[in-house]
Amino acid sequence: MTASSATIISCASCGKVLDDRTPHSTCPDCDGMLDITPATPLVRGTALAQLFDGRLGIHGARGSAASQSGVWRFRELVLQTDDDSIVSHPEGNTPVIHRRSVSQYAGVDSLRMKHEGHNPTGSFKDRGMTVAITQARRCGATAIACASTGNTSSSLASYAAHAGIPALVLVPSGRISMGKLAQTVAYGARTLLVRGDFDDCLRLVRESARSLGVYLGNSLNPFRIEGQKTIIFELLQQCGWIAPDWIALPAGNLGNTSAFGKALSEAHQLGLIDRIPRLLCVQANGAAPFALGFAERFATRHQVRAETIATAIRIGDPASWDRGVAAIRVTNGIVIAVSDDEITAAKSAIDASGVGCEPASAASVAGVRALVSQGVIKPHENVVAILTGHVLKDPEGSIGSGTSSRPRPNAPIEIDADLASVERVLRNSGKS
Ligand code: F0G
Repeated sequence: MTASSATIISCASCGKVLDDRTPHSTCPDCDGMLDITPATPLVRGTALAQLFDGRLGIHGARGSAASQSGVWRFRELVLQTDDDSIVSHPEGNTPVIHRRSVSQYAGVDSLRMKHEGHNPTGSFKDRGMTVAITQARRCGATAIACASTGNTSSSLASYAAHAGIPALVLVPSGRISMGKLAQTVAYGARTLLVRGDFDDCLRLVRESARSLGVYLGNSLNPFRIEGQKTIIFELLQQCGWIAPDWIALPAGNLGNTSAFGKALSEAHQLGLIDRIPRLLCVQANGAAPFALGFAERFATRHQVRAETIATAIRIGDPASWDRGVAAIRVTNGIVIAVSDDEITAAKSAIDASGVGCEPASAASVAGVRALVSQGVIKPHENVVAILTGHVLKDPEGSIGSGTSSRPRPNAPIEIDADLASVERVLRNSGKS
């Protein structure tokens, strides 16, 4: 299917219009954020939903990666490009999971979890990265760089390796989980451990992109946002194109929040859904500039020195602030902050159900529980929580040492290699 207009890329600050193969991720004139307006698809409403539904599962394992991808299934709303230029593993096609124990924990009749940890590198970042690296290839980028708390870097390293483009990664030294650092290095990225925090890394990578001419892969890059919109499109498709009441997600740099707002408003405008669900953005108490802003109707842009066990969202100066505000406004959304203990407790509930996730992801379920107890979310409402990363991303946070403040009741116990020791442990655990 073709479209009736072309993709438009323009600067949100000065209005400059750029070519759709631009090598810039921010405005070359004023460094403002770039907005992408996708070409208008030729069909809308039910016909568009049918087009997307018709692509489900038809290619099996025989089709190209792009034809199997849960991102490129929605290509009309993502990026118009030929199949040969697409860099895909494939990605997406993540499950929507229900566990009674987690619903009970959150306090709603039925909580569904969309588990983005099932992406190829274990986080939702792959959805934006397939598009950003495809664009890097389209514009002839010779190197690609990002700052990261670990998931973006893992994803960028993996997709850059797939495309054969050298990757440069800046992460805060000693402040990302071992699982993510291991992945980033394994996929071959040149990895710099910066003595500073994520916000320092982002400032530095933006300066490097400008002066060294490398392509910027952070979510400031508008193509990342276009890919991440497909979390929403796929979720709506899995809900039979009936919008849930609430969608909860963890919020750090606000790229995902921006993508969700954009996707929901596009889906509504195109008649894929007849109402827009409310977003619930959840931050950690020690890294909650956006929640502080929300509490005063975004009168000021807050910056904090971030500290939380949820290392993925340990961000004090979110880059996509304005887009995040727009997303909250268009969805009549809410932003709250929860404590590290609430995050750890929610993670334990998700892990104990056999689903598992990394600490930051559990913030979404902790946020639902908090809003239910405040009476804002009603138990009968239809709620989806996005789990953004896989349980193996942060092994220290799961075993109960390192980043977690609460030891697990089943923390591993070392024993001598004899049956008596096994029996002794089993007898003692029966007593606890
Ligand atoms: N959840 C996880 C697991 C993340 O890795 C991130 C961000 C978020 C939530 C928040 O998303 O930044 O779009 O608001 N991780 C980035 C990274 C910062 O570098 O991997 P956001």
